[in-house]
Amino acid sequence: MINQENKISKHLRVLVVDDNDVDLRMLEAMLTENEAGPCFFRCATSLADAMESLTEQDFDVVVLDLNLPDSQGEQTLIELNKKFPLITIVVNTGAYEDEVGVISLRLGAQDFLNKGKYNSYTLNKSLLYAIERKRLELELKMAYDNLKDLQSQLVQAEKMRVVGVLASGIAHEVKNPLATILYGITYLSEKFDKNKEDIRIVFESMLEAINRANNIITDLLNFSGLTRLNKKMEDLKDVLEKAISLVRHELDKHHIKLIKIFDSNIPKIEIDSARIEQVMVNLLINAIFAMPDGGEVVVTSQIFILSTEDLKKMPELNQNIFYLGQTIIMIHVDDKGCGIPDNEIDKIFEPFFTTRRSRGGVGLGLAVSKNIMDIHGGQIFISNKKEGGVRATLVFSVNSNKGDEYGKKTNSYC
Ligand SMILES: Nc1ncnc2c1ncn2[C@@H]1O[C@H](COP(=O)(O)OP(=O)(O)O)[C@@H](O)[C@H]1O
Ligand SMILES: [Mg+2]
Repeated sequence: MINQENKISKHLRVLVVDDNDVDLRMLEAMLTENEAGPCFFRCATSLADAMESLTEQDFDVVVLDLNLPDSQGEQTLIELNKKFPLITIVVNTGAYEDEVGVISLRLGAQDFLNKGKYNSYTLNKSLLYAIERKRLELELKMAYDNLKDLQSQLVQAEKMRVVGVLASGIAHEVKNPLATILYGITYLSEKFDKNKEDIRIVFESMLEAINRANNIITDLLNFSGLTRLNKKMEDLKDVLEKAISLVRHELDKHHIKLIKIFDSNIPKIEIDSARIEQVMVNLLINAIFAMPDGGEVVVTSQIFILSTEDLKKMPELNQNIFYLGQTIIMIHVDDKGCGIPDNEIDKIFEPFFTTRRSRGGVGLGLAVSKNIMDIHGGQIFISNKKEGGVRATLVFSVNSNKGDEYGKKTNSYC
């Protein structure tokens, strides 16, 4: 195993990979007369052997000969680095070629040693410096990855902003003509003979089409105009119950059983209840859509203090918002439906992404829900469950102060 923390221990744990007996013994002698204390030393005589040792045990550094019975030259380094990207590697070869040295560094080694050109002192110094360089390299890589993530989040946010502006412009433009058409149809329908079946059907389908268009426009305006909230201290349980009652008819129609598992210890929190209700309705409707022939939806609410274990278990949780020791409320909507294909799961929060266009889907439900959760300082995430179906999760913080008193008192929810 790799020493992931990459701490420099006083007694270095060195894996020497070399098939030459004399070289091995020389290295052992140099490493064990280390002034800072003897190194823990283990040798491997082939690449396969080295990989096995690294899998079994922690090492600080690998001293690697590139020419081994089962692998030669740069390939040895490439293979080892690919399988163990976190380990510090110092190349140690007989070839006196600076070019090999430069190439080794480019391929991920931290230093290059020429056999016979170093002593115990320089060897140990090289290993220590190599370990430190690797640690810095990993830190830098982590910072770079974080920066890249942040950049793509910013790009995404800007994209959403542009879509929002466009959507609201179009929605405003379309809303008035729609109202005129609706008014005209209502007026005309009075003039025609309602007893004629074909005329009645035409008017009904026109009204249905206008209603659908109107709903899309309302969704669009919701999506783009969510800047002001009407926040009050509200009981989430009431909001969940209200959302459930709004979809009750659809649940019954599709023979879907709804199970509620509500934690009675959840305190009131500051939310815009109409918006959160809208989010819940979106999630429930999605669950119903996913189970057209019946099934089961479970709505769970819970409150607990975030532990290290929770953070590990939920990689989706945004750790810029939620932190260790914070008290959070989680709402889950679990279904037993068709699930979301892997190649689609990254797109489901994009506005207008839908796989249900033919069944009336517009693809704004989750985009709107994400916006609502964002402006509540919360989070929404959705994942497929191992046993099939989807779990949609809403997360709210109970108290955004780090010294969270409520959390301290309610350890039992963990
Ligand atoms: N519970 C779910 N089960 C399966 N797929 C889902 C579920 N929830 C969302 N999806 C997928 O995400 C897409 C986007 O959802 P949404 O934004 O609510 O738009 P819409 O419901 O109008 O399609 C859906 O078309 C569907 O492909
Ligand atoms: Mg939907």
